[in-house]
Amino acid sequence: MVQCGHGPRFRVHEVRSPEPAKSGVQNPESRVKVKLRSRHLLGIEDLDRSEILTILDQARTFREVLDRPIPIVPALRGRTVVNLFFEASTRTTTSFSLAASRLSCGCVNFSKATSAVSKGETLLDTARNIEAMGVDGIIIRHASPGAPHFLSRHVKAFVVNAGDGAHEHPTQALLDAFTLREKLGSLDGKRVLMVGDITHSRVARSNLLCFSKLGARVAVCGPPTMIPPDIEQYGCEVFYRLDRILDEVDVVNMLRVQQERITSSSFPTVREYRAFYGLTAERLRNLAPEVVVTHPGPVNWGVEMDFDVAEFSRALVLPQVTNGVAVRMAVLFLLAGGEGEVRS
Ligand code: MLT
Repeated sequence: MVQCGHGPRFRVHEVRSPEPAKSGVQNPESRVKVKLRSRHLLGIEDLDRSEILTILDQARTFREVLDRPIPIVPALRGRTVVNLFFEASTRTTTSFSLAASRLSCGCVNFSKATSAVSKGETLLDTARNIEAMGVDGIIIRHASPGAPHFLSRHVKAFVVNAGDGAHEHPTQALLDAFTLREKLGSLDGKRVLMVGDITHSRVARSNLLCFSKLGARVAVCGPPTMIPPDIEQYGCEVFYRLDRILDEVDVVNMLRVQQERITSSSFPTVREYRAFYGLTAERLRNLAPEVVVTHPGPVNWGVEMDFDVAEFSRALVLPQVTNGVAVRMAVLFLLAGGEGEVRS
């Protein structure tokens, strides 16, 4: 939901190069060592533009590693993280596991169904017991907004929010931003349209914050029942008719209809939803040639997108998934104490 603020600030500690530029003129080749001071990544809400760019620049380095014949670096050798997932996941849990293994970091996967949570053990007891076995980082997905923030106040390990209810999903926003920068160069001044279930989507909230901080102009479009009433205060435009805005944007970010979080009927029928808000084959054909399409997955094919999008050359759905591994490598590396290096 578009509200709520938790947790410590996520700051960047800048160590300037030893010889500062004379007369206030920056040497274009000088580099700045950047270290994240916070031990946690709880939400995009806590990051500023330079922190986001630090993570994305670090991810670029790791993206190159993923293209090598042996895509592994020893950056986190000897460390261990746990995927503490209390909600279903395919992409995010696999992506964090792979990111850890590409960094030579151990990764343990926790499943709610087969754990002592089914016997009534609390979130905190579960986390503390796992931490007691020697875990450096906890990657948590939980149905309750604020669960990662709560945990971060009670454990010594670093905490990464992998999705907390309808609140935030910061690594999804970072991987979406990474993918769009790779394709478009920069998000500065770009017009991004998020379409669909804005109210129930944690991706919508994180993406809105992330894209805006990177200079994009964000608009949202969906049925009035799926757009939070106060969303304009976040600086985005609101549209209720997709065909009114579709030909004016650079990026179409489709969102999944969040069936599991919808408690009342938010639209009359799936057929009607698709007709008004779906990226149908016909709408796809009418998109301007440079427009790109993203979706965080999983896709409800035939609802928010027709299957034709899977074959559309400017759909970035699978590149998003590949880039997600590099972005999560960057997050784990920086939170575990690594230093990023960016041009000043
Ligand atoms: C999420 O967990 O929020 C997914 O990445 C996106 C979705 O489920 O729609």
